[in-house]
Amino acid sequence: MMFPEYRARRLRKNEFVRSLVRETNLSVNDFIYPLFIVEGKNIKEEIKSMPGIFRFSLDQVLDEVKTSLDLGLKAFLLFGIPAKKDEAGTSAFAKEGIIQRAVKTLKDKFPQAVIITDVCMCEYTSHGHCGILRGGEVDNDLTLEQLARIAVSHAKAGADWVAPSDMMDGRVARIREALDEAGFTEVAIMSYAVKYCSSFYGPFREAAESAPQFGDRRSYQMDPPNAREAMREALMDVEEGADIIMVKPAMPYLDIIRMLRENLHHPIAAYQVSGEYSMLRAAGKLGYLDEERVMWESLISIKRAGADLIISYFAKRVAELLQRA
Ligand code: PBG
Repeated sequence: MMFPEYRARRLRKNEFVRSLVRETNLSVNDFIYPLFIVEGKNIKEEIKSMPGIFRFSLDQVLDEVKTSLDLGLKAFLLFGIPAKKDEAGTSAFAKEGIIQRAVKTLKDKFPQAVIITDVCMCEYTSHGHCGILRGGEVDNDLTLEQLARIAVSHAKAGADWVAPSDMMDGRVARIREALDEAGFTEVAIMSYAVKYCSSFYGPFREAAESAPQFGDRRSYQMDPPNAREAMREALMDVEEGADIIMVKPAMPYLDIIRMLRENLHHPIAAYQVSGEYSMLRAAGKLGYLDEERVMWESLISIKRAGADLIISYFAKRVAELLQRA
């Protein structure tokens, strides 16, 4: 294949031609839409560092889910912001907790929607860490018991999938065991298997009021320079029974998504996190970048790297664009 016999530009001639040889496309079926839910009524409060993303009270989130379903979106990842926090994050597994009520209400109203819950403690603990503290450190094995309780409480409320994001060792196995014992053998686990200790989570922590009150998450989340370790994390979760393996953040870790795609046969999800969203929105607002195009390009790159599912704050906007296309 040499010039002048081969001319790559032949297949780039116009949009019809390009669309015929396009290797990757986005579809509404690729997306999971994250939602923040707060206690109270009639609340739809924009998150300062995430323009276009809101904290919704339960009555309001129903509308957001309804319009999203009408646009063809199918899956929602819920984050709860409780009214009360304590040392042990007990409101995370309260029967009438914010997430438990949200899941129940959403599943009653939209039984076909795939409702996924974030299983973690940082939104519920007064110290903002993702587990139970002992001697100023997050204690792995004590935390496992809490995570299992949280996951079962979500399943009882009707969650389709649970998504542990705490990064404790052994949590997928412990959660699987607890779910099965409670009779929830059909509830899937989407594991945040490869979750890096990333500064791109900044805006989320504002949104969910979940920043650690002291220290950081480096003793449980992954060290950004490591790739082989990502493989070990992912294999561990597969062996423990995870149904879907997630990489997070997405765009700074496309190499990891690709590596997992080439080495695993499980569906792979990638989380385009709050900071990735805020960065593109800010540049768009300032007029430095064409926001719609960079949004598209960022999402296509994640898909091209090998992700089957993309969790993105752009989900609804993409669905709108796809509907118009
Ligand atoms: C909870 C959790 C976090 C995110 C998802 N689940 C924050 C964190 O680990 O600090 C981040 C999502 C985002 O930035 O959009 N542990």
